[in-house]
Amino acid sequence: TPAGDLATQILLALDTESPLLSSAAFPTIPSTEVKGALDRLASRDMVKYETIDREEAILEPEGEQIAANGSHEARVFEALRTAVEGLTIQELEEAIGDKNVVKIGQGRAFREKWISKTTDGKFKAAKESIKDTTKEQMQTIQSTKSHPDAKMLADLKKRKLVRTQKIISFNIQKGDKFALKIPEVATDLTADMIASGSWKSATFKGYNFKALGADQQPGALHPLNKVRSELRQIFFEMGFQEMSTDKFVESGFWNFDALFVPQQHPARDMQDTFYVSDPKEAEMPRGEDPSDTADYKTYWDNVKDVHQEGKYGSIGYRYPWSGDESKKLVLRTHTTAISANMLYKLAQQKGPDGRPPPARYFSIDRVFRNETVDATHLAEFHQVEGVIADYNLTLGGLMEFMDIFFGKMGITDLKYKCAYNPYTEPSMEIFSYHKGLGKLVEIGNSGMFRAEMLESMGLPKDMRVFGWGLSLERPTMIKYGISNIRELLGHKVDLNFMRNSPAVRLDKE
Ligand code: PHE
Repeated sequence: TPAGDLATQILLALDTESPLLSSAAFPTIPSTEVKGALDRLASRDMVKYETIDREEAILEPEGEQIAANGSHEARVFEALRTAVEGLTIQELEEAIGDKNVVKIGQGRAFREKWISKTTDGKFKAAKESIKDTTKEQMQTIQSTKSHPDAKMLADLKKRKLVRTQKIISFNIQKGDKFALKIPEVATDLTADMIASGSWKSATFKGYNFKALGADQQPGALHPLNKVRSELRQIFFEMGFQEMSTDKFVESGFWNFDALFVPQQHPARDMQDTFYVSDPKEAEMPRGEDPSDTADYKTYWDNVKDVHQEGKYGSIGYRYPWSGDESKKLVLRTHTTAISANMLYKLAQQKGPDGRPPPARYFSIDRVFRNETVDATHLAEFHQVEGVIADYNLTLGGLMEFMDIFFGKMGITDLKYKCAYNPYTEPSMEIFSYHKGLGKLVEIGNSGMFRAEMLESMGLPKDMRVFGWGLSLERPTMIKYGISNIRELLGHKVDLNFMRNSPAVRLDKE
């Protein structure tokens, strides 16, 4: 390596001359490189060195010109010295060939009393000879790179003839273990060394306890996945079962109709929902597993009836319900489609008392909406969803559960606001006060599923179901201080952002 070469060069140079000044011995090598090589040698006690900071004076172009041709005032004097009659300003300019030199030079020459004016207004020399000290100074600086008089140097700098520059050099001396070559050091004690006995005379490299380990470039979980795993943990410790979310495409039946979303609902517009063009249509709802012998046809008819005519004490929406509309394939707009499917399966189960047993389900996965993409919206995001089915649940129970659930995420002091979902009644939006933003922010949506939905499935009247949903992105952005969702998800995400995001956050905000 070049540093190795330089270290050897330093040793060779020191052998003939010690102490050695680096700026003299290696004038063209940058001081950082010299220092690197010196540190290597000094760590082995092969050299000692001290750092010398000094200012170097360098001529500016005008200073160079003066060093070569003399000062402006001297040139003016020189031109006049031989002209016995004196010269007019034009003649002087012609003789010197530089108007600027004449302009500055004659002023200074007058002040030095080197020249005077004749009665007819011409310039003439006022002395036999002069001493051009400025030229001498420039020449000294040129050869020594310094000026003995600090005040004069400052004056020359002000006149823009000279500038100074900080130079770092090193005064190098032989160290206690000076040698012409860097000795080989053993890094490991090997079996061979023990067998041959060479370990007795070997020099071992010392441990460097300050060395940083090599960067292992480990894989890293995306912050969304980190928050997702925290949430899964909360669900599991509260006795929830994870729903399978491997179907991104659902039929309108599961995504909307089963949830009592009328077929005219704006959420079902193409502007809001992505429809699949190939294949366009789903089959009739059915169990995926051959052991699932549930009567999906009766369920389908119940859904149709409850929308069209009303049933289970509901007057329904009273519109002609379309089976074709229900079979349209969509990218699921919420994971509540899966909850509907799971609740239908629950309705088929028989517990010890012959009735569907209480259940707690959750899922965290991707959903799709036809949104205009901006700083806070993407066309796809992740939804956290939970449902609790049990007998005689109340709205107060839902609120208490929310306090516990969000409390485990560090979100407290919840506020509730009446809301509307076609599938829940009552419905409540959940808010929490965000200290950073200084205002209430919506963190989720919730409600108790409607009888129209649950009874169509065959669930008993006294079985009530809580449901709630929130986005995974909202808490992740708050926890990781991200203001633009595109920094979190999509093609603009910086891979370093993932690597550098902490795996463990000690705050719970
Ligand atoms: N599906 C709702 C949403 O997308 C969330 C929700 C789930 C609300 C269950 C109530 C019950 O916002």
